[in-house]
Amino acid sequence: MNLSVFLSGTGTNFMAIAEAIEQGKIQAKIILVASNKPDAPGLKTAADMGFNTAVFQRQDYPDGASFATYMLDVLKQRNVHLIVLAGYLRKIPPRVIRAYRDRIVNIHPALLPDFGGKGMYGMNVHKAVLESGAKESGVSIHIVDEEYDRGRIIAQRRIPVMKDDTPDSLAARVLKLEHQLYPEVIGELAVRINSELVGSGE
Ligand code: GRF
Repeated sequence: MNLSVFLSGTGTNFMAIAEAIEQGKIQAKIILVASNKPDAPGLKTAADMGFNTAVFQRQDYPDGASFATYMLDVLKQRNVHLIVLAGYLRKIPPRVIRAYRDRIVNIHPALLPDFGGKGMYGMNVHKAVLESGAKESGVSIHIVDEEYDRGRIIAQRRIPVMKDDTPDSLAARVLKLEHQLYPEVIGELAVRINSELVGSGE
């Protein structure tokens, strides 16, 4: 299975996935690391590690249709089977979502369907969790569909919120959990997708 990781930031989830592949825990190859930001630190790390990289910037294209066409062309050229969003802060064009139906996953640093949707990214999520007085937070992994953070949840893991938690301390514990859960879930998806690929003779 060929996977493409999309990121906009540091890329620690990307690194956790790359490490799990290296250790033989995920039967897949990272065929492409892509970002909407040419200067995303995670993209530089990926390039330094020798991965293929791509930049997808909407403003480089006259309209949404040509942007989607370019993204799809790159993904098809690389024969990408699964798109893994890891801190990717842009919407995926609807045409790409349709072409990769059930083949795009995202990780969210809270227990969806709560604390998701527009504006709920980075520290905003952890601040909102603490302000709500929730006793638990955690990690959600879901299929990406046309709506932000609304696709089918495929895995969730919980942690308690501590009395003295700050957004930073909560974020750090949640991120650690992300680094465990995302590779696990991608490993399971790889088993399924690999057997489908064998079945289809690819
Ligand atoms: C993670 O907290 C993830 O849940 C969210 O963005 C963050 C990405 O972190 N979608 P990193 O770039 O993988 O370090």
